[in-house]
Amino acid sequence: MSSGQDKTPYLDALREYAARDPARLHVPGHKGGLGADAELLRALGGPALALDIPALTHGIDLGPAPTPFEQAQRLAAQAWGAQRTWFLINGASQGNIAAGLALAHHGREVVLQRNVHSSTIDALVLSGLRPTFAAPEVDPELGIAHCLSADALERALAATPAAVGAWVVSPTYFGAVADVRALAAVAHRHDVPLIVDEAWGAHLAFHEELPEHALAAGADLVISSTHKIVGSLTQSAMLHLGPTSPARIEVDAVDRAVTLTESTSPSSLLTGSLDAARRQAATHGRALLGRTIALLARTRAEIRAIDGLDVLDERLAGRPGVFAYDPLRLAVDVRGVAASGYELAPRLRQIGDINMELYGQNVIVAVFGMGERGLPEARRLVRALQAAVADVGLDPHGGRASFAAPPPWGELALTPREAFLGAQEVVAAPDAAGRIAAESLATYPPGIPNVLPGERLTAETLAYVQHTLEQGGSVRGASDRLLRSVRVVAEQA
Ligand SMILES: Cc1ncc(COP(=O)(O)O)c(C=O)c1O
Repeated sequence: MSSGQDKTPYLDALREYAARDPARLHVPGHKGGLGADAELLRALGGPALALDIPALTHGIDLGPAPTPFEQAQRLAAQAWGAQRTWFLINGASQGNIAAGLALAHHGREVVLQRNVHSSTIDALVLSGLRPTFAAPEVDPELGIAHCLSADALERALAATPAAVGAWVVSPTYFGAVADVRALAAVAHRHDVPLIVDEAWGAHLAFHEELPEHALAAGADLVISSTHKIVGSLTQSAMLHLGPTSPARIEVDAVDRAVTLTESTSPSSLLTGSLDAARRQAATHGRALLGRTIALLARTRAEIRAIDGLDVLDERLAGRPGVFAYDPLRLAVDVRGVAASGYELAPRLRQIGDINMELYGQNVIVAVFGMGERGLPEARRLVRALQAAVADVGLDPHGGRASFAAPPPWGELALTPREAFLGAQEVVAAPDAAGRIAAESLATYPPGIPNVLPGERLTAETLAYVQHTLEQGGSVRGASDRLLRSVRVVAEQA
């Protein structure tokens, strides 16, 4: 453990300020809780509201350098092995958008894994970058998208000589981890930075049994949703700069982009929670994760013992697009029972107030945190799954057929930014073929966007999306979830 990791300089500075009982002649107007609504005060507690202190407060983020705020970010950089770390108060979404804006300082083209998070598409809209997409590997049995292979990245970069970056996601929602070392080697051979959206992997740095984390594997910029598994407060996240050269990513450009994408009133509670979550991860993460990993191994075995159910686990590693598996996700394969994940999830809520993170046609996903008390929840999940499967029975065909592969995505006629900002109209779905999309359509399964803003819609893709809906799947991004109509770029008069 690096020195000082047991300290929380920023959180301590907030507490010290609150304990002094200062004259708070500044925002927020609730004045440390005294002016807050009584129910809010009861719900959150006086101590929490007393720590809601604005930015630019002496002794917290103003005063002799390094201020407690700067110290806290440096400790985070040390803990994850970054050259520099920024605290984010608008989630990993902010990290993606800031990464896009920073990249746009270097040029106009970028290579991206097709199934990036929607905030990365927003980054394209805001930055004006022109994407070349590379398809992730799709699991033909489970009907879910895994990670990008190094070969696919190589092909996309070779086809995009002006690219200024390569952008991938690892781990996925389902726990598949990419071969980040190989991806970084490919990106660096093309002399571009590798940006890894590691929103789901902030914990990977803290236990040797977990897959290697992206910074350690050579990524240049890593987006980390610290709140997801490491357990800072919702909406808090981090952006880590790896040991990259300024020619690949300009530090000042990242810094400016982070400022541009955040409020001028960042929440001290979110920031304090990042400082504390870093301390917990660095000092106790290994022990906490060890317990959670063991608990999940037992729970997986219990779920596999239920007739009709299976789980995703390290057996996935080695399949195309899966280099390793992150055991902090509990993904249950429900293909063997006579109900889809969409039908099982509400049943689990009814049976035992079990609330899953994600459910799709074939797989439902429970997320476990680093500091999980876990056991009661895991038991409840196993019991509820037993009851649900007993209710619905087994699939009579011994497992559902997988979905047909989607047709190729359409030509990029405009950049996402041009399509998003241009005049738009809504047309009936049958009339949309040949028009340029102004919105995304991403069918689940497998969740890879079929259409993104700026791409030409094809009759084949529209029919595929419609067919997926008829089969019980869903479409994200569409303004009309039933796809009776589609938002397209208006035709010029
Ligand atoms: C891969 C990925 N990136 C980014 C995000 C956005 O994270 P946040 O909700 O912290 O903004 C998510 C959210 O689920 C995600 O799955």
